[in-house]
Amino acid sequence: MKFLIVDDDPFIQKMLEITLKKNFPQDEIKIANNGIEAVNIVTTGEFIPDIILMDYMMPEMSGLAASKEIRNWAKDKSILIYIIMVTAKSQRETELESLDVVDDFITKPMDMDVFLSRVKVGIRTINMFEEKTKLLKENIKLYDHLVEINLINEKLINKLSEVIEQMAVSLSEAIEYKDLTTGSHVLRVGYISEAIGVELGLNEDKAEMLKYAGFFHDIGKIAIPDNILQKPGRLDENEFSIIKKHSQIGAEIIKPIKYFSEIIDGIRHHHERWDGKGYPDGLSEDKIPLYARIIAVADVFDVIVSKRPYKEPKSIDDAITEIVKNSGTQFDPQVVKIFEDLYKKGIIHKIYERVELIKNTDQRLVEALKSIKSVTSIKEIK
Ligand SMILES: [Fe+2]
Repeated sequence: MKFLIVDDDPFIQKMLEITLKKNFPQDEIKIANNGIEAVNIVTTGEFIPDIILMDYMMPEMSGLAASKEIRNWAKDKSILIYIIMVTAKSQRETELESLDVVDDFITKPMDMDVFLSRVKVGIRTINMFEEKTKLLKENIKLYDHLVEINLINEKLINKLSEVIEQMAVSLSEAIEYKDLTTGSHVLRVGYISEAIGVELGLNEDKAEMLKYAGFFHDIGKIAIPDNILQKPGRLDENEFSIIKKHSQIGAEIIKPIKYFSEIIDGIRHHHERWDGKGYPDGLSEDKIPLYARIIAVADVFDVIVSKRPYKEPKSIDDAITEIVKNSGTQFDPQVVKIFEDLYKKGIIHKIYERVELIKNTDQRLVEALKSIKSVTSIKEIK
């Protein structure tokens, strides 16, 4: 602790100094002979006390005026200086006026035990303030740290989302080259599914997962032999039973990626039907996982509006009519209703424009895949 005794009476100065030295031998004590000197000592930074024992009546500058100046200076610097006014004047008004500015008030002649107790209250107050300031500084430091961590996390999450999305574009291209038909089909299914999920009230994380489920729903086609996948005509029963395996295989392919654990069922069941006549497990209605019910609508819609070797593309209006016609038999009626709403709001059109943009801007990927295709062709020739 640092004490500043401010008094024009040498006897009082000495008496206070001896008492403080005796009780707080480790602490620093400085003496100012009047208010002006006290203000100078403190505001120049020569000696910044924790506790000031300030005489009330002094020539030139009163203890009250000096206290006010020191108080204002300390307030600007966020420093706590505990001021105890010491005076022979014991009028009620003087006490009230002083306590507006200072922290405590003692009248002379002093009971030295009472004086010491008051000083100890001051010390406790200063210690509490310092403790609080320390905690506050630690909190600020922790908060800054937290903000920094959050920023890093946000960057990592953005990076991860970006990588997953690029991975999905890349895989969709890979399936496209194998299937020869899809043409960013899986990307559109992903974005349409995500939009349906958002409209259904799924939170951001769930809707994002649903998008990935759409991206990867046909990943199992990688394992289907080319002669079946690329067959232009109708598939026989055996071929169809092989192609039907792609949803189960897709779920198995994604299974090792723990991050995608909640989309596995969506992939496995995207060919189930609301009436229970789908595959692989013949699940019906609410037993079909929600992600799968949503992907089913997005998937079939996109197939209808896309060109395939065995069919010409239909218009969006016709596709919507067909989806609505199969609501309650093939599709979940609630999902169909939401899909129709999205179509009316123009969101489906926007998704198709977005996928075109992704495809057209990712020329490097297209070039890379073209070279892969040429290698495949060479192998085929051999
Ligand atoms: Fe499929």
